[in-house]
Amino acid sequence: MYPLIRNRRLRASESIRRLVRETIISPDDFLVPLFVVEGKNIKDEIPSMPNYYRLSLDNLEKEVKELWKMGLCSVLLFVKVPDNLKDNAGTEAINDNGLMQLAIKTVKNTCPEMLVMTDVALDPYSSYGHDGIVTDGEILNEETVEILSEMSVSHAKAGADFVAPSDMMDGRILSIREALEDEGYINTGIMSYSAKYASAFYGPFRDALDSAPVDIKNVPKDKKTYQMDYANRYEAIRETQMDIDEGADIVMVKPGLCYLDIVREIKNEVDVPVAVYQVSGEYAMVKAAAEKGWLDHDAVMMEQLTAIKRAGANMIASYFAKDVVKLLNT
Ligand code: PBG
Repeated sequence: MYPLIRNRRLRASESIRRLVRETIISPDDFLVPLFVVEGKNIKDEIPSMPNYYRLSLDNLEKEVKELWKMGLCSVLLFVKVPDNLKDNAGTEAINDNGLMQLAIKTVKNTCPEMLVMTDVALDPYSSYGHDGIVTDGEILNEETVEILSEMSVSHAKAGADFVAPSDMMDGRILSIREALEDEGYINTGIMSYSAKYASAFYGPFRDALDSAPVDIKNVPKDKKTYQMDYANRYEAIRETQMDIDEGADIVMVKPGLCYLDIVREIKNEVDVPVAVYQVSGEYAMVKAAAEKGWLDHDAVMMEQLTAIKRAGANMIASYFAKDVVKLLNT
């Protein structure tokens, strides 16, 4: 009892604080999202994501070498598809010579040990900006799952280590797992975006890929019929449990900061690794406030990432990965 027990003893100096610190951020924690575009020598800054770029395959190669040298050993690939290749059937998504498939090969040829995860969803390929096939104002579940399964096999064939379905259709994990097994890709893993909320924090990402739902008649203007209602908690656990039962190797909660209660509950509930996606809007907010001089960029970045890990994340997909490693090395 006080005054015999004084909690401040364990906080008295940086040395004792280092000794008792429970959560440490390291390069091993990160999945690095990368945006790939067609063309040559392209490194386009994304306006709503300062210091983050869309890269053509030649620059992807350079980026991957740099990441590997920095100790970052996993990437999560996304592609920006030109409008003329978009349709309502996911045709380009299953093209074995498509941009995603080439990007996978580029990374693997450049740096064979780099872990490659790929986004599996139709939105970048969809003329309507939806994660699935749209008919009469509805996102069709089974038809979409069929394409996602073919897409996953195509990514595995190109050399992906993990496919990462981010679409939130029902039953897609089982269908993807079965498709991979049927084709002999028994070692290709699945990281499921299992508790993915319909969030306004995805705005900058949709700018990056030009993938927002379009505003035309009979096309839903948001993704609320498949992504989760942010008011819900039990549903996140049910979704995650089902994805594990269907064969997910890694599950995910997305976005990060607003959903740390969910992260902790899921962490307490399941025994597979839990990933958290600190999304584009979370990145943009920190960058914007720091640009104005209103927040200390590095301090806020580390506080947020540490909070995400403390909540239970075993890995974090974050646009800050390089910033963090640079900071840790100073
Ligand atoms: C698309 C997808 C999205 C993100 C990852 N995959 C956007 C969306 O669901 O609309 C968001 C990532 C981010 O905001 O950083 N399936």
